[in-house]
Amino acid sequence: METTIISVDKSMDKQKSYQQAVDLLESGGVVAFPTETVYGLGAIATNDEAVQKIFAAKGRPSDNPLIVHIGNIEEVERYATGVTENAQKLMTAFWPGPLTLVFNKIPGVIAATVTPGVETVGIRMPNHPVALELLRTLEAPLAAPSANRSGKPSPTEAIHVYDDLKGRIPLILDGGQTGVGVESTVIDMTTNPPTILRPGSITQEMIESVIGQVHAGGDSSDKEAPRSPGMKYPHYAPLAPLYIIPQDEGRLNAIVDQLHQEGKKVAVIGPNEWNGSTADWYFAIGAKNDLSAMAANLYGVLRKCDTTEADVILAVETEPTGIGAAVMNRLMKAANGNRYA
Ligand code: TXA
Ligand code: MG
Repeated sequence: METTIISVDKSMDKQKSYQQAVDLLESGGVVAFPTETVYGLGAIATNDEAVQKIFAAKGRPSDNPLIVHIGNIEEVERYATGVTENAQKLMTAFWPGPLTLVFNKIPGVIAATVTPGVETVGIRMPNHPVALELLRTLEAPLAAPSANRSGKPSPTEAIHVYDDLKGRIPLILDGGQTGVGVESTVIDMTTNPPTILRPGSITQEMIESVIGQVHAGGDSSDKEAPRSPGMKYPHYAPLAPLYIIPQDEGRLNAIVDQLHQEGKKVAVIGPNEWNGSTADWYFAIGAKNDLSAMAANLYGVLRKCDTTEADVILAVETEPTGIGAAVMNRLMKAANGNRYA
């Protein structure tokens, strides 16, 4: 299969580009498209066979549910029950935007393969002109996980999708680099209080300012079975082992020296300001404590580490406040929980 990339921003004939994507989707195919968080790999969410192609292209475990993307708030009622007043408030406050709400599903509407093993469905309305135009032209919901090979960092540029899925999918709509850079916040609205299953740029504080106290313990670090099944799988891991290190320039230099003495080549992911490091490769992720920049650049720099011959990758930690909580959550997964002692 040949993989075509269409730049929708620059396209002279936008309508034709969207129609090509819509035709592919309506005939049961998959299409990659940008959202404000990361690129998604979409199939019509009511078509079981089409959705299976997503799992096949990604190599994704089939027990991990997909998020359903919609183009208008009102569509929620077609797929979900138990849409509470609090849920309405969150949708009004944050949609379109990077917040996925998990509801009980209305049986028999969304394809079974979208929500394997669960009675719930995760829904979001993305805030990206290309995603919204595609959804509204299609007039159907799109099941769409991040458009990476399973286990790889989520794609924040069309070229990342191409690198991972070329020959496996027919079409990528290129809308440039995504803005947020980490995946949507996932919140389970079926628990009381609601539970944040995956942190993102819509932070706990932002959610609590709208609906009051919520639970933040839904991640796989919990001893209980993970409620967001995807959180139990290895994620975002570059090829070389990655270690998190403290935000301390002196300590960074000491660790790099020590690794060099052991004959190891070192790649570092750290703030712009420390670019004078003696590391063999230094990937600046944003100005120190610019948490939004770190989120936007994280997956891109993790992918760049794979283009080096580093034996070890060191990533400088950041404040776990605001979107920094999502950055540290993803970094901890990429590091498999390892800190450099
Ligand atoms: O920003 C995003 O959310 C991106 C873009 C493309 O929209 N999508 C995304 O999808 O990150 P994916 O499949 O890579 O991650 C979805 C996460 C997984 O951890 C999955 O387990 C969880 O959401 N999830 C989906 N449906 C769920 C459900 N019904 N109950 C609990 N967790 C659910
Ligand atoms: Mg993903």
